[in-house]
Amino acid sequence: MTPTNTPNTTPMFAAPVLYDGDAEPQRLEGRRIAIIGYGSQGHAHARNLADRGMDVRVGLREGSRSWAAAEAAGLRVMSVAAAAAEADAIMMLAPDTEQQRIYDRDIAPSMRPGTTLWFAHGFNVHFNLIAPPDGVDVALIAPKSPGHRVREVFTQGGGVPGLIAVAQDASGAAREDALAYAWAIGCTRAGVIETSFAEETETDLFGEQAVLCGGVSALVKAGFDTLVEAGYRPEMAYFECLHELKLIVDLMYQGGLNYMRYSVSDTAEYGDYIAGPRIVTAQTKEAMRQLLANIRSGEFAKTWVAENDVGRPHFTAARLADADHPIEQVGVRLRALMPFLDARVVRPDMGVANLAGVSLADRSAVATAT
Ligand SMILES: NC(=O)c1ccc[n+]([C@@H]2O[C@H](COP(=O)([O-])OP(=O)(O)OC[C@H]3O[C@@H](n4cnc5c(N)ncnc54)[C@H](OP(=O)(O)O)[C@@H]3O)[C@@H](O)[C@H]2O)c1
Repeated sequence: MTPTNTPNTTPMFAAPVLYDGDAEPQRLEGRRIAIIGYGSQGHAHARNLADRGMDVRVGLREGSRSWAAAEAAGLRVMSVAAAAAEADAIMMLAPDTEQQRIYDRDIAPSMRPGTTLWFAHGFNVHFNLIAPPDGVDVALIAPKSPGHRVREVFTQGGGVPGLIAVAQDASGAAREDALAYAWAIGCTRAGVIETSFAEETETDLFGEQAVLCGGVSALVKAGFDTLVEAGYRPEMAYFECLHELKLIVDLMYQGGLNYMRYSVSDTAEYGDYIAGPRIVTAQTKEAMRQLLANIRSGEFAKTWVAENDVGRPHFTAARLADADHPIEQVGVRLRALMPFLDARVVRPDMGVANLAGVSLADRSAVATAT
């Protein structure tokens, strides 16, 4: 299958990695930039841009719980419509499922020739949920990291890697402007790769479904259940199938599968070779192909948008069904007893409690009560 609308990426690394020296930060001087949303990405982009001396305002919904936090960080905060109206460039950092509604209601009226619209993920543009008018530049600057790392690494003098792409180049400089924005949030300190909206969106959705979230969660649960059903203690199953995953992933992150295999015992490595192909079979690979086809056809996006339109019944049911899985029950108790983990407890209402600073005795109480 030939990827749709993807840049020529053969041979590998034909696309150059772009660094600080490739960017023209002065392109953003005097531009009025609106950051829509102040969540994971929004707070990091807004604060990094402000630290770089950019003219930033944050657009939030009325009654937003983030309003005070953004003001406390020294940022100008206003309604989304007001921020869009006074901006030359708008970075959309609200949740992907909300962006179409926000755009239609509060941003579209301010679109005029010369405006720039940026995204951190291509979902809404690639699947035609948002279709800005001609005359508007549309580009993507996607940090390859959660927003909190974007901010944290920036304040330490570094940056996280990022992607840029252009969907609509009315000005003839959409790419250069996107690269300047990538510089402003720190990404060119680490390296920026050019892609397309299609490639970024489709690979991102596939990765999270097949491997990172869907694949790994199902594998961890299946391994845990198999051991527990065979009579092993849940604590042992938790350590073997979930806790140790981080140690393995850290090795892969540093040196790929080769370094992980170099580091584990030969027995573990032999087990890897004989067991892996029995777990991830031709059937699994076929399921992955079907997931990808579903993403590329737009079917996944259509279903997910429809699910949101009716209040997310399936999503909520799935979330609640898994929230009480035995691996969560034993996990919350074990993590509470390991202070080095910086453990978090997600409550049934899905708020997050941080156990840092809670004494060991109190941690046991939290874990028992949860
Ligand atoms: N998180 C990541 O790791 C990551 C990485 C790369 C790219 N991205 C992309 O970055 C974008 C933002 O994601 P995120 O994870 O940063 O989002 P998020 O943490 O969920 O933040 C959402 C922000 O949008 C605001 N918001 C929610 N609904 C709104 C509405 N109806 N009207 C106005 N504002 C609304 C929220 O306001 P309140 O504060 O009032 O709730 C919050 O400030 C997405 O396109 C995502 O795909 C995310």
